[in-house]
Amino acid sequence: MNKIVTTGDGSHTIYVPEINEHYHSIHGAVQESEFIFIKNGLDLCNTDPVCIFEVGFGTGLNALLTSVKAFGQRRSVFYTAIEKDPLDENTISLLNHHNFAGENGKEIFERIHGAGWGVMSRISPYFSIHKIKGDMLTEKITGNYDLIYFDAFGPDKQPGIWAREILAKISEATVKGGIFVTYSSKGEVKRNLNACGFKVNVTEGPPGKRHIIRAIKI
Ligand SMILES: C[S@@+](CC[C@H](N)C(=O)[O-])C[C@H]1O[C@@H](n2cnc3c(N)ncnc32)[C@H](O)[C@@H]1O
Repeated sequence: MNKIVTTGDGSHTIYVPEINEHYHSIHGAVQESEFIFIKNGLDLCNTDPVCIFEVGFGTGLNALLTSVKAFGQRRSVFYTAIEKDPLDENTISLLNHHNFAGENGKEIFERIHGAGWGVMSRISPYFSIHKIKGDMLTEKITGNYDLIYFDAFGPDKQPGIWAREILAKISEATVKGGIFVTYSSKGEVKRNLNACGFKVNVTEGPPGKRHIIRAIKI
């Protein structure tokens, strides 16, 4: 059974015993999400509006931090996220991520989680979300995304989702110049991204992680 765990920066993550994996870094869930997806993703993506696709919606932490940033920058974000196994309402209600998201954090967090599956919902004047309840392995992905948050479980735990044909689906839905960010810097992931039309950059990771990947669609 999944367990809520407090990470190094005081923010929660989920531990999944079946695969012995956490949703986030135990050194700090918010710290990791901020560093990888906001600092190395959103902050380097210059479009307005920005269309984001996330693999693995999970706790909604990346969506929450992105919505806060979008509001601060007065920049429109259209956020699409796919999730195979949505968390139950009780688990979501126990997460403390909103404490790290400013004064409206709780309201935004609840709105993001309250948004229906399969429809685009407006959360704030600058943030709309479309949550897809589906399996990335089989779902057809359409769109023109400027930014990809690839936040599935690790390649050692679920290699299928990091496979070339899945990354190719994502590549087809990413605009030229679009950014792909993920926490893994495994050689096979780099090679697969290269083969799918991305220029791969390996860059410094957050505490506890030496490197991450930021790739650009060519
Ligand atoms: C590392 S967790 C990260 C979740 C999220 N980004 C967060 O901040 O909480 C990986 C997520 O990917 C989801 N996932 C795993 N396999 C999937 C698949 N085939 N299709 C869609 N989602 C998947 C898991 O259920 C989990 O929520």
